[in-house]
Amino acid sequence: MPDHKSRLAVFCSGTGSNFKALHRAITEKQIDAEFVLCISNRSQCGASVYAQIHGIPVLHIRENQFPDHESFSAAMLSALKEHGIDYLILAGYLRKIPDLVVDAYRDRIVNIHPALLPKFGGEGMYGMRVHTAVLAAGDTESGATVHLVDEVYDRGRILMQQSVPVLPGDTPETLAARVLACEHELYPRALEKLLGERKAGYGR
Ligand code: GRF
Repeated sequence: MPDHKSRLAVFCSGTGSNFKALHRAITEKQIDAEFVLCISNRSQCGASVYAQIHGIPVLHIRENQFPDHESFSAAMLSALKEHGIDYLILAGYLRKIPDLVVDAYRDRIVNIHPALLPKFGGEGMYGMRVHTAVLAAGDTESGATVHLVDEVYDRGRILMQQSVPVLPGDTPETLAARVLACEHELYPRALEKLLGERKAGYGR
């Protein structure tokens, strides 16, 4: 495990509110890590604008810029190596991480999901679809899950979860807002714990 500050690459596709919460927490709580790269499949999304403002290099990379999946995977991996990345932090990245990259960064890729996995996860379960499904199921609680990433959507080992109530009269939007606020609290806590455990030499 690194004896330097852990070098993080954040992967985003949207507003990046989780990235901002993590970036703030790292600065304020002096977590022994730094964001050194922002990878996005969408140019000028909120996350990449935020990264630029904070002097974090942004790489826009999309699979359709490459002739095939192999060359896309290789390009992503070589960018990560070039920046000396230790951990990949997924924060609203709406693409699957290529298997080649998952394999190279086994147990060092972290994601946040807006529900209590293993419920309401898997391919196609993102954004409002998740909250709509929670309400349709009649669950009385939802929440957020921070987990490791493997080759299958939302299947990797769960690191930490936090629940929120589902309230009478909730719409997908009101539930989403409550879960997102919980994510902003949970993700920094989970990352700090993971990095702390890895530095101490225990916890896979
Ligand atoms: C969050 O709900 C997160 O759980 C999911 O995508 C959303 C990203 O939101 N993976 P933001 O871009 O961090 O605001």
